[in-house]
Amino acid sequence: MTSSFIVSGLGGRKLLSGTIRVNGSKNALAPALAAPFIFREPLSLAHTPLLEDLRRTEELFAALGVETTAQERTYTFTVPKIINPVLPEDIAKRMRASILFTGPILARFGSVSFPHPGGCVIGERPIDIFLDGYRAMGASVKVNKRHYYISAPKGGLRGAMIYFRVQSVTATETFALAALLARGTTILKNAAVEPEITALLRFLEASGARIEGIGTHTLVIRGGGLLACKAPRYEIMPDRIEAGCFLILAALAGRDVTIAGCEPSHLDSIIAFLSDAGVPLSIGKRNIVISAKKSRVPYRSVNIKTHEYPGFPTDLQAPAVVFLTQAAGDAAVFETIFEGRLNYVHELNRMGASIRMMDPHRVLVKGPTKLVGKTLESPDLRAGLAYIIAGIIANGRSVIHNAYHVDRGYEQVEERLRGIGANIVRMDDVGMAETR
Ligand code: EPU
Repeated sequence: MTSSFIVSGLGGRKLLSGTIRVNGSKNALAPALAAPFIFREPLSLAHTPLLEDLRRTEELFAALGVETTAQERTYTFTVPKIINPVLPEDIAKRMRASILFTGPILARFGSVSFPHPGGCVIGERPIDIFLDGYRAMGASVKVNKRHYYISAPKGGLRGAMIYFRVQSVTATETFALAALLARGTTILKNAAVEPEITALLRFLEASGARIEGIGTHTLVIRGGGLLACKAPRYEIMPDRIEAGCFLILAALAGRDVTIAGCEPSHLDSIIAFLSDAGVPLSIGKRNIVISAKKSRVPYRSVNIKTHEYPGFPTDLQAPAVVFLTQAAGDAAVFETIFEGRLNYVHELNRMGASIRMMDPHRVLVKGPTKLVGKTLESPDLRAGLAYIIAGIIANGRSVIHNAYHVDRGYEQVEERLRGIGANIVRMDDVGMAETR
């Protein structure tokens, strides 16, 4: 059943207070779900966020023959000796991150077939880097109507030198995993260095993988066969994007809010952005406190250019633009990673923001502007949460349709937001018919 969020806005008042906890990271979970294929024994993941991608993965694994067991937030995956290496079309098309499974499955079982994981509203999302990488490792790639059939050469994938033409998070993860089962040494150049990648590689290293250059743009990986689980489980790190969203919300609508269970060292770019804007932050070991008592209003505008880690994350660009609608001055926002990731700004303008689209990659935000509640369609998960933040600071009531998108990235976000005083409820769209 589809559902929507109904938000009663605070009209610019700073009333939120208390503690909001950050869950496990969606984008750390994604590659971790591909890791069981390179382990000899069952692999357990702890502190997993209970998100849509996890449900879809369970279904996808069931079709492959991989067993899933769960105890609260610890999930254990057992990969049998033989699987059916075909990613089911209906699931894989809805889950871009399913591309992560293709490398380890190909490396372990010698073949894999899958549909194009699908474009989406944030851009085309090509997979050419993956296909080129598989070819470089000796695989044959056949494409038929956006369906891919990949076969490893006799004797398995071969180590290769792979230069990524752009830094890609999931390609780096996929090829690091596949390379561990390949024959010989693989060198990944221009590898991405997001903390979700580094954490996984360190865990693999602790499990016996031979990887040099972890945390740098050149990874040297020696293939050596399946890994043994030395650590009892892999702990999913806190979600830095969720933490960043809560920081932005707390800066805009918080009196005294603690963002708990986060990893501040992963948040340098958003902390710098908010600090430059004049937001008073007090940074602890595993939490950050924003206290409006000390804040200067309105905040100052700060330009943004999204960039691979440790630059400003594209996944925080939409909430940051909501922040800029409340800051004094003009801010130029340059989205460098995805071409379709600014389309949500029209809806913010309907709420009263002043955002001019310069070209598909750049907008100019003039602030501060008062926002008024509206009925909005959430286009993707990150813009969806940005609309919720806009709804909380706006005057009046907002309805954000397609709660499904928000749920893909944030587990039961409305409950956690209510915990700090936001007035937000979820309603299924049947009930909504009466309220529209
Ligand atoms: N690209 C290609 N060819 C490819 C792969 C990527 O041209 O074969 C391009 C993309 O179009 C993009 C750039 O490379 O312009 C970088 O994209 P990347 O491959 O790094 O993105 P991704 O790995 O598909 C991950 C996150 C995204 C996040 C991006 C950028 C996961 C599961 N997803 O995607 O998260 O936006 O990195 O940091 O880790 C989200 O959580 O909302 C989300 C979309």
